[in-house]
Amino acid sequence: MSDSDCSDFCVVPWTHAYVGVGGHRKLCTISQEKGNQQKLSLEEFWNGAEMKEVRLKMLKGERLQQCRLCWDKNNFLNPYKNYFNKFLFPNLVDEIREKTASDGSTTMPARSFDYRYSNDCNYSCRICHPDYSNRLEKEYQKEKVVYKSDNLEGLSEFKDSVKQEFLNEVRKGSVEEIYWVGGEPLFWPYHWEVMQEIVELGHSSQIYCRYNTNLSLLKFKGVHLIDDLLPHFKGFRIQASLDGVGQAGEYIRTGLNWQRWQKNFLEIHNFCKVRTNAQIYIDMTVTLPGIVHLKEMMEFTQKYEITVLPKLILPSQPDVVLSPLSLPRALLDQLIDRVQKEIKPFVSFDNVSIFRLLTQIKEQPNFEESFPDQYQEQFDQGRQKLLAMEAWRQDSVTLSDLYQKIPELQEWWQS
Ligand SMILES: C[S@@+](CC[C@H](N)C(=O)[O-])C[C@H]1O[C@@H](n2cnc3c(N)ncnc32)[C@H](O)[C@@H]1O
Ligand code: SF4
Repeated sequence: MSDSDCSDFCVVPWTHAYVGVGGHRKLCTISQEKGNQQKLSLEEFWNGAEMKEVRLKMLKGERLQQCRLCWDKNNFLNPYKNYFNKFLFPNLVDEIREKTASDGSTTMPARSFDYRYSNDCNYSCRICHPDYSNRLEKEYQKEKVVYKSDNLEGLSEFKDSVKQEFLNEVRKGSVEEIYWVGGEPLFWPYHWEVMQEIVELGHSSQIYCRYNTNLSLLKFKGVHLIDDLLPHFKGFRIQASLDGVGQAGEYIRTGLNWQRWQKNFLEIHNFCKVRTNAQIYIDMTVTLPGIVHLKEMMEFTQKYEITVLPKLILPSQPDVVLSPLSLPRALLDQLIDRVQKEIKPFVSFDNVSIFRLLTQIKEQPNFEESFPDQYQEQFDQGRQKLLAMEAWRQDSVTLSDLYQKIPELQEWWQS
């Protein structure tokens, strides 16, 4: 087997354990299989029929359908497998050969964990879904909003067993990487307890930490993320979610307090500036109000030289009215041209990915073109839902206010 970047080979089936928010186990967060819903333990899943088959196919150099987001060059400039193959575990190829039996089972332990323990969250972002935020879940239940959910019966018992399972792995000392994401991981007492225990056990220097967080709090019961925990670890990267600055950001991400967010962000940013093993990025979900107010976001990221990781709001369907793809073609083209012109002076090496994503958005079919038969009806339903939310939340700033900057856009939204 040669170097991993020139093949479809990936070390994930020998190193990484994933449990999704709906309680399913699969290869990793982006793998495309439905996932195993049988509430298996890691031990049962790790050398179960699915994993053994995957390992054998990978060793034969076969392309796995579930891994297509990594091998299909149209999807990612930097495929997710590179994070595992090149950054986390660059030297495992010989060990993998030695420790994989002819039936595909392995004696290698999972050492990287992406376990999504809970949807507990202190925000109720308008882009998000109740499966990821219990605040949204409660709100939708109260307002009798109908939505599709992944949640399974018996999920909370399974999640409790998964928490215990992970603690056991921590105590054995076999964990080398943790991805904290949820829900909001910094809002979970469990996160703080585990991280403290890792430090106390003396295992932290062998563990790299990744976070996807709303960055709303850095402290829990007197323990501070930066002062007391992360410096003990091998390294860390924080993907701090932010979809707009000031009022626009606070509208999209309900719960965000822009002043407090900046304070937390700068605390971590200043820490990371002088270290090579610590990074903070902005994880931006690109929405229509976010694009309208993009200049301020570009100014902010340029000023602090922050790398931005932008992605378009999902799903791509006409009732997602916060998506720029919900705009009619002429208005979409006009908006992107106007915003690209406006943000040009603030484009830097770190935030150019936003500029590029705008170009990609303009080049793809909008919802009207993709779903000509369903577009109008679904768009109207999505708009009604969003307006109803503004009414029950008694928002002081509405989407219409945010679109005031561009009269044609406000007119379209109100039409
Ligand atoms: C579900 S959140 C959980 C982690 C944490 N609470 C946070 O907000 O970063 C994970 C990521 O998904 C993003 N996200 C939420 N809703 C989305 C949507 N409809 N489309 C794309 N990304 C979305 C969030 O902005 C965040 O970057
Ligand atoms: S903070 Fe994260 S999990 Fe919570 S509602 Fe927002 S996007 Fe969803």
